Order: sequence, then C-alpha cells, then structure tokens
Amino acid sequence: MRIVLGVSAGIAAYKAVLLARLLTEDGHQVDIIPTPASLEFVGRATWEAISGRPVTTSVFEGVDEVRHVRLGQEADLIVVAPATADLLARIRAGMANDLLTSTLLASEAPKLLVPAMHTEMWRNPAAEENVSVLRERGIEVMEPASGRLTGKDSGPGRLPEPEQIKARIDQLLEPRRPAYADAPRAGTFYAPDHAGQPPLLGRKVVVTAGGTREPLDPVRYLGNRSSGKQGLALARAARAAGAEVTLIAGVMDQAPGPELRGVEVVPVETAAELQGAVRIETEKAHVLIMAAAVADFRPADYAAAKIKKTDDDAAPTITLVRNPDILAETVQRRAQTGTGPAVIVGFAAETGDENTEPLQLAQQKLARKGCDLLVLNRVGENLVFGQEDTEIHILASETAQSALDQDQPVHFAGGKQEAAGVVVRSATALLSSLPPST
Ligand code: CTP
Repeated sequence: MRIVLGVSAGIAAYKAVLLARLLTEDGHQVDIIPTPASLEFVGRATWEAISGRPVTTSVFEGVDEVRHVRLGQEADLIVVAPATADLLARIRAGMANDLLTSTLLASEAPKLLVPAMHTEMWRNPAAEENVSVLRERGIEVMEPASGRLTGKDSGPGRLPEPEQIKARIDQLLEPRRPAYADAPRAGTFYAPDHAGQPPLLGRKVVVTAGGTREPLDPVRYLGNRSSGKQGLALARAARAAGAEVTLIAGVMDQAPGPELRGVEVVPVETAAELQGAVRIETEKAHVLIMAAAVADFRPADYAAAKIKKTDDDAAPTITLVRNPDILAETVQRRAQTGTGPAVIVGFAAETGDENTEPLQLAQQKLARKGCDLLVLNRVGENLVFGQEDTEIHILASETAQSALDQDQPVHFAGGKQEAAGVVVRSATALLSSLPPST
C-alpha cells in the first residue's frame, strides 16, 4: 500500500522514524512529508534514507510533477505523526501553506492524525474544538497517550508508541467486511454511502449516557462511577454518521461540549426521569443506544429535610426498592405496540467470576433484556470507568445475527471514540438490513 507519512514540528518526530521503519518493513511504500519547521528535529537525510524516497517540504520543489496532488491522489492512507496543535489548526482551517497541508487538502484518502503536544495545549478549548471539527469531517484523530512529556511534566499529550500507531494503520488498511460495505470504517465517523449520503441521514438516534443519582434527602444521593465518556463518544459518532441525535444525559464527569454541536441534549438525574425521557424520545427514533449506567435501586423514601444524626448513636436504615428496567421495558413496548426503535442496543459492564466468563454473562444478559445488540465492556483494573481506552465485544441477538451476516461477536480494543464508531457502525448495518418501513 502507499502511505503518506506527514511529520510536523514536535520533539516526538523522532518516534516517526521508527514508525516509518515499521511501515517500510511491512512492504508499504512510504512517502514522507515533513513540515519545514520539523526539519529542526529530524533532518531530510534521515527521512530519505529510511523511506528510500525523495523528500520535499514545499510545493515549489518538483513543481513539474505537481507533487501535492500526485502524492495525495496515489495514497491509500495519509498519516500525520506527530500532529502538533498548530498543524491541527491549519488543517481545520483548510490552509495549504506547505507541501503537507496542501497534500492533505488535495487528497480524498482516509486520514489519521496522531497528536502530540503538552497537556495544557491538548486541553485548550481551541485545540479541542479543532479536534472535534476534524473528527466530524471524517478525519480520524487518535487520542494521545498519557505519560512523561518533553519536560518534567506528564499527562495526556504524548505521542502513542510507534507500534500502537502501526496497529491502527493496519486496521485502517484492512479490507472492509461485506456487512459493513455501506457503513463507516472503524474510527472514521463519517463515510458517505454509494449515493454520497451519510449512512444515518434522516434517521433519529437516541443515546443515553452517564449515571443516575437517586436522592435520599436534599443533600445526599446514591450514585455510580459512570463518567459518561462512552455515551458522549456514541452521540458524536452517530451525529457524524449523519443522524439526528438526542442525547439523554445523566450525571457525567464532563459537560457535553462544543463537539456535540447539532445534538439535542436532554438532561436527567434520576432513573425515573431517564425512563420518562426515553419513552418520549424513542417514540419516533430508529435506534436507541442505552449506554447510561442506570441505578437498579433507589431509596424507598425521600426525606424532604436533611437526615440528621440522633443522640443515641443509631444509624438510619435505608430501604431500597427496584427501579424499572428501562431497556427491557423499551424492548417489550416495541414487541407489544410495534412502535419504537428498530434497533435497540444495550450495554453490559461485566467482570466475570471464577465460574463464568464475561462473554457468557453478556450472552445471558442479551437474552434476558431482549435487545438486538449488546455491547460488553470488560470491567477490571484500569478498564471502563473514566478511562480513555476500552475493550468491547458486540453480541447480536439470533435475529440480528442472521440479518447482519457477519462474524460474531465483533471485538474491538482501543480508544472510546473509535469503539463508539464500531458500535454505531454495527447498529447502522443492522438498521439497513431491515425492511424500509422500519
Ligand atoms: N439498564 C436499564 N435500566 C436499568 C438497569 C440497566 O435500562 N434499571 C440498561 C443499561 O443502560 C444497560 C443494560 O441495561 O444498557 C445493562 O445494564 P446492567 O447494569 O449491566 O444490567 P442489569 O440489568 O443491572 O444486570 P446485572 O444487575 O445483572 O448486572
């Protein structure tokens, strides 16, 4: 395959040398386009030696062959590693002031940007907005790794290891599976279908996200550790696939930000509020994705005044009652009335135990809840709560399985945004396999 490897001016440029080597060793033809400033970090001779190809940085070199157009047209994939904050801003703005940005602008090839910068820069609203706009346009922006940065500081912003970037490149270059022909590739959130339309255009997707809070008294509640990240990523992925998206947002670490432009947000706090919102919002929805961590129990009584300590050292007893199962209820309503979402996706976070594997528990949960797809999140040390990375299996009901005609279960390990892309892609594939009336 032909890969263009762009390198911008960050100290992590040295890691791109290793990446280029991994790619050429795999038999790929790699054309390296450094930005002029990046040559301060790694020089042209290194790039030419490692790729065995001529290296230029400006559109005014090799003008006779119109290099930016040719490289862009011939590429199967364009990777930029490291992508600095400045480069992300320039790509977002559509600038073409060097060979790399010109090539990116002139090419329809899939693009993978691998950012590297200081944590403060990565978290700056300007950089965040640039990243989300680029993602909305279908450009994949990898999550940076966390760890030691250039100075003594550490945090998210580090360039992922060359092997990790290479693994993602391998996935992107994998031929598409037939069942996914009309849907976006993993990690790219927008891919037009044959008619040039985003695959979920005209479809309504409801995503629930975050945790619920069940109040005990005016100052206390029972809650859970859901960060809401996976749900936000799902809303973004569905929006980028062209859907009209409603996000029913429970309690989450981070408020839905500007990257959710165009998504309707319905804030809720308790399971009862979530249940009401799901009932209303799914009436006309095509897809429901239940990523919210719904409390299974709530205090039986709500104390209108703060519960106080008493003099006798006694502690109050809290009686809990069951909350409704919103997912199972939506499935039942669809079966009884024939209305509601054609595709219902549930989530399950499982650790497994010494007798039962997480996959087996998920299989049982899928049957119990009756949904069409169930996304299994493996919970364990450093997995799921608040983390950037996740590992999922997507299980399909028997009916969905035969409609999808693909290997089951679908497995993915990596960033939450990419995982969300895989879930939305499966839901899209299932939806498009159903008769048009649904
Ligand atoms: N869910 C729901 N209503 C509830 C509890 C869960 O709609 N009261 C949904 C979640 O949003 C998720 C799925 O059901 O999509 C599975 O959630 P989970 O908490 O794993 O399932 P439980 O039914 O609580 O199963 P268990 O207690 O056996 O883990």
